[in-house]
Amino acid sequence: MWRASILTIFPDMFPGPLGASLAGKALASGAWSLDVADIRNFATDKHRSVDDTPAGGGPGMVMKADILGRAIDAIVPDMAADARPRYLLSPRGTPLTQARIEALTQGPGVVLVCGRFEGVDERVIAARGLEEVSIGDYVLSGGEIAAMALIDACVRLLPGVMGASASGAEESFADGLLEYPHYTRPQIWEGQPIPEILTSGDHAKIAAWRRAEAERLTRERRPDLWAAFLRHFRNGSKAG
Ligand code: ADE
Repeated sequence: MWRASILTIFPDMFPGPLGASLAGKALASGAWSLDVADIRNFATDKHRSVDDTPAGGGPGMVMKADILGRAIDAIVPDMAADARPRYLLSPRGTPLTQARIEALTQGPGVVLVCGRFEGVDERVIAARGLEEVSIGDYVLSGGEIAAMALIDACVRLLPGVMGASASGAEESFADGLLEYPHYTRPQIWEGQPIPEILTSGDHAKIAAWRRAEAERLTRERRPDLWAAFLRHFRNGSKAG
């Protein structure tokens, strides 16, 4: 079973939205499992503090290496035996992509450390082999929501979770392009008809129209993806 382990100082945030909808059903049916550890349980002082002032001065607080180290060791007692990647959610991390999500779902699961405060003591990041991962170029108040986003993106790809729509072959990023526009009845809404080609029954023409629209949207909205598409996808290789 695909297993997600979370380390956080806000365990009550979980499962949160992961307990609802598709992910929640898959959790209840045993397609994946979630365990949540409260980092504060590994503190030793009476205030159960997990952070301290930064060495060298400056604003904010830093999550302590000793406490987070103990928490990780409790969740992953044998690093050699647990093949799950260990991620630290952080705006400083490398970007999360659909390709990385797909690779994660091929493995046994993931260990997610949710950062808070200004940062996490660099020594524990290195010593416990935490890979820093970001869900986008904006700053959240902590890694919890980022962890939920990562897990949601993984869980929907697990075998059996999406049922008939599971192919995912036509969705955004699957071939390096954003998804084409969708329409359904009514045929005319607020004076706007569905594009005629979609009701023509000509499947080859429909496919060509969708492809052209996907390319147009990608070019207009995501010049970065468009450049990558021109470099990698056009010549038949999905690598990179
Ligand atoms: N924690 C705070 N901001 C984040 C981001 N953008 N991605 C992942 N973790 C975060």
